[in-house]
Amino acid sequence: MTEQFDFTTTEEAVHEAVPISGATSVFGEDVRADAKQIIARYPESRSALLPMLHLVQSVQGHVSAEGIQFCAEQLALSTAEVSAVATFYTMYKRKPCGQHLVSICTNTMCAALGGDAIYRKVSEHLGVGHNETAGTPGEEGSVTLEHAECLAACDLAPVLQVNYEYFDNQTPEQALELVKALQRGEKPAPTRGPALSDFRGAERQLAGFFDDLESTVAGSSAAVETLRGAQLANEQGWTAPSMPDDAELPPLPEKK
Ligand code: FES
Repeated sequence: MTEQFDFTTTEEAVHEAVPISGATSVFGEDVRADAKQIIARYPESRSALLPMLHLVQSVQGHVSAEGIQFCAEQLALSTAEVSAVATFYTMYKRKPCGQHLVSICTNTMCAALGGDAIYRKVSEHLGVGHNETAGTPGEEGSVTLEHAECLAACDLAPVLQVNYEYFDNQTPEQALELVKALQRGEKPAPTRGPALSDFRGAERQLAGFFDDLESTVAGSSAAVETLRGAQLANEQGWTAPSMPDDAELPPLPEKK
């Protein structure tokens, strides 16, 4: 999938930390303090770019031109460098996202088991297609729809995610009911994982901030189907050969 992306770049921003500009004033002192915390986790500030982009999305619901500029300023990168990363990964949204992001897997396994039918049903109901939002982005009950590539839950196909939380073994009818509930402002429990938040809340977690870590990790994370292989190996006494203690490891690249 190719898309045009119109973030502008400026020569002055190249490898130069610039002062807080009006364009990035949407990111207040609290966000700047969070950014500092993120940057402090890494030996090189530029390594903080991915969580920084999630932080931007937790504030604005997408990666805006201001968000690009903000990351560039904070990380002493050029806006071109930030844009290159932000446009590469599909988790960084170029348009404001709805309160909830619904990602429906239409990759081979899910498609064969009904993923295409689920996508069609939800798309028809919402009246939108890929990367489009029903309702006003950010407002309660607004839903952004997207096709997703394999969501790494083929054993539970067909699956969909809401704000990256799993809803397994879906039917078109179940998916439709789920989306209608989201539009009513409800937050149905995912099959696995923590309670449902909203897109911006999920983005804050992806930036590494958890208001209540205990409850966030309290939900069940593994499904019976996922553990079946390990269980079978256990019952049969199958093991993988262990790595010899004296195995030669490739040399580590020199740290720059
Ligand atoms: S194909 Fe849908 S989760 Fe793998």
